[in-house]
Amino acid sequence: MKKVILFADTGIDDSIALTYALKNPEIDLLGVVSGFGNVDREKTFRNAEYLLELAGRTDIPVIAGATRPLSGAEPVFYPDIHGIEGLGPIDPPIPEERYENRTNFSKLFKLIKNNPNEVIIVNVGRCTSLAIAHYLSPEVMEDVKETFLMGGAFLEPGNETAVAEANFYGDPIAANYVCQNVVNLTIVPLDVTREAILTPEVINLIDNRSDSPLEEIIKPILDFYYEVYQQLEPGIAGTPLHDLAALMAALDISGLYEYRKREVRVEHRGDFAYGESIADFRPGSTDCYGPNCARIAMTINYDIFVSNVFDILTNNR
Ligand code: RIB
Ligand code: CA
Repeated sequence: MKKVILFADTGIDDSIALTYALKNPEIDLLGVVSGFGNVDREKTFRNAEYLLELAGRTDIPVIAGATRPLSGAEPVFYPDIHGIEGLGPIDPPIPEERYENRTNFSKLFKLIKNNPNEVIIVNVGRCTSLAIAHYLSPEVMEDVKETFLMGGAFLEPGNETAVAEANFYGDPIAANYVCQNVVNLTIVPLDVTREAILTPEVINLIDNRSDSPLEEIIKPILDFYYEVYQQLEPGIAGTPLHDLAALMAALDISGLYEYRKREVRVEHRGDFAYGESIADFRPGSTDCYGPNCARIAMTINYDIFVSNVFDILTNNR
C-alpha cells in the first residue's frame, strides 16, 4: 500500500487524480494539500472537500496550501479551462463554515512524522506549497520517501507559453527550488501527459458503470474539459489527464513509463523563457547520478495507461 499525500490545485484533472487515488486499493491517501493554481485557494480547497465528501472520506484532512507564487505576484487563474469554481459545470455545495476547520502545515508535518520514510508526495499543481514545506522544515521533509511532480515540458512545446508548462510557469521560483533540492524526485512532464488522453468513448464506458456520487461527477467535468480542449487544440482525440498521469507514476505500473535521469533547472529570471524547464538532452548526453538528478518520464505506453484507468475508475471501491 502506497501512502500518498496529494498536493493539488484542485481543478478538473486534479479531481480525476483525486478520484483515482480514492478508488485505487493500492493507495492509502493520507491527505490533500490544496493551493492556488487553476482557481484560487479557497475554491481548490472547497473542491477537495467536496470530492472527499462525495467519497464518504471526510476523515482525510485537507490542508490549506499557498495562495500566491513565491515572487509575491498576483496569481493568474483559469476559469475558462477549469470552470468558474474549478470543477467544470459544478458548484460544490460546501458551506463556508467548513473553511474554519481547515488545517495547516502542522498537520502535514505530523502526517510525515507519523509515517517516516513511507510518505509519497505527488504534486500536481504549482510547486509553491511543496517548496515552502521544504524550506520551513527540511528535517521533517527528509522523511518523505519519494516525490512526484506533474510539471515541465522538455522535448515538447509548453502549454502556457511556447516553452513553459502551466504548473512550472505558475511559480518558477518554487519549481526550480524543488527540482534542485528535493531528492528522490520524479518529474512527469507534458512530454508524456499530453498523451495521457481519455476519449469521449472511454468516458462514456466509465460513466455507464458509475454507481456512486463520486463516480457520477466524472463525466460532467470531463465533458466540460473536452469542449475546452476542442477550442485549445482543435481535433484533439479527448482530454489529457495530466495530473492522473503523474499520480500513476507513483504506483510502479510495469511498462507504463520510460525514464531518463537529468539535472533539471527552471528559468525564473528571464523573459521569453520564463517558466521553461531545462535539462540536457543533447545527443551523447547520458543519465546522471546523485541527489540532484531527477527521473523524468519520457515515453508513456498508452494501452497500459488507459486499461489501468478504466479498471480503477470502474471498480466498486
Ligand atoms: O499543465 C497542466 C497542469 O496545469 C495540470 O496540473 C493542470 O491541473 C494545471 O494545474
Ligand atoms: Ca493541477
